[in-house]
Amino acid sequence: MIVAATSSPAVGSSYLSRSSRRSIMPRFRMALRSNLVSVTPLLSKLQLECATPLPVLRHVADAMAAEMRAGLALDGGSDLKMILSYVDSLPTGNEKGLFYALDLGGTNFRVLRVQLGGKEERVMATEFEQVSIPRELMLGTSEELFDFIASGLEKFAQKEGGKFHLPPGRKREIGFTFSFPVKQTSIESGILIKWTKGFTVSGTAGRDVVGCLNEAMERKGLDMRVSALVNDTVGTLAGARYWDDDVMVAVILGTGTNACYVEQTSAIPKLQGHVSPSGRTIINTEWGAFSNGLPSTVFDEDMDAASINPGEQIFEKTISGMYLGEIVRRVIVAMSEEGGLFGKSTPEKLSMPFVLRTPDICAMQQDFSNDLQAVGSILYDIAGVESNLSARKTVIDVCDTIVKRGGRLAGAGIVGILQKMDEGLKRSNLWEENCGGYGWRLV
Ligand code: BGC
Repeated sequence: MIVAATSSPAVGSSYLSRSSRRSIMPRFRMALRSNLVSVTPLLSKLQLECATPLPVLRHVADAMAAEMRAGLALDGGSDLKMILSYVDSLPTGNEKGLFYALDLGGTNFRVLRVQLGGKEERVMATEFEQVSIPRELMLGTSEELFDFIASGLEKFAQKEGGKFHLPPGRKREIGFTFSFPVKQTSIESGILIKWTKGFTVSGTAGRDVVGCLNEAMERKGLDMRVSALVNDTVGTLAGARYWDDDVMVAVILGTGTNACYVEQTSAIPKLQGHVSPSGRTIINTEWGAFSNGLPSTVFDEDMDAASINPGEQIFEKTISGMYLGEIVRRVIVAMSEEGGLFGKSTPEKLSMPFVLRTPDICAMQQDFSNDLQAVGSILYDIAGVESNLSARKTVIDVCDTIVKRGGRLAGAGIVGILQKMDEGLKRSNLWEENCGGYGWRLV
């Protein structure tokens, strides 16, 4: 089995472990002592509270599997919504023709067209455009947001030509990837449950999002038809399946986080009459809402309380790209105020919520220079902070602590999904057939 994973560049981070970082910077360790005298207790407390030893990870994996079961049993049975996607079959590679896709999920929306040529010719041509969503639209009205999307789509569709061919008499079809919790009512319709990731658009919750898009397209006179509404996890799974039919799970680690997987319909008590000819269907877990037994700190709690959705999306707030930078910022503000991290005063710019973003954290973690020069520049550029080597080192320790907690918890979540799938396979013939070579890998 394969787990397809995407992480936006904003979030993906590769960095050396603390021990390897230290081994390449022996001199720098000697110079650290002074600031650490006052911030050391704060750092130790943070590290203790963010620790994710094996028993914690096992608990998270087990609880994730248990919540999945409860969410499949009945709607509202768990924090995990376990949403039916109405996607019962996945791409095979035989698909042919011109397809459009629209992707609305976080800070950007993307439009794409692709000409598929079946197993032989595969992806013959593809073009896409990405537009960042102005902040005011994330907080505006439904009509404003969908009008903005429809006009982006209109401009893009007008540029079609060259290698892209629509058979005469056919309408352009769009796959709409909408990366928020939606209660699907069919493959091409679904009701928005709530906004996440900082969106609070009025007038959409409780409405069919395809209806909202269709109305906006009509206002623009755009003659296109939405033929599928999918969550981004489901789109990722379908995209990976196009190339490899072993893929069973898709995970998004981006601005937000979520996972979907292939479930057997016999394991879904709440299915109520929905028949899938394949005996399987894709379930969108909406695991961002998971909260059972997660290590938490006062910084997480304060950030949650100040958010537009307090008490919700706790897993997402602990591991996803929208929030990691903000947690780090809150920690270093406390270290500055209580431990004099940057000297006598706390730089004003640092008090601005979300000023430190996850890409900044990634960039700081990738600084392996002796004097942590990049860390110094980022702190200066973003927060107006003049830092010495000792303070930079502490900031890196804080980043490592928060990022490592997120990474390990994301891993535990994936294990939870695999545990749940294993139970299903054990109950069915599939397990017997696959028993010998059963395994999974991340792609
Ligand atoms: C949304 C999910 C989405 C995930 C990743 C979450 O905030 O609730 O529907 O899949 O972000 O984009």
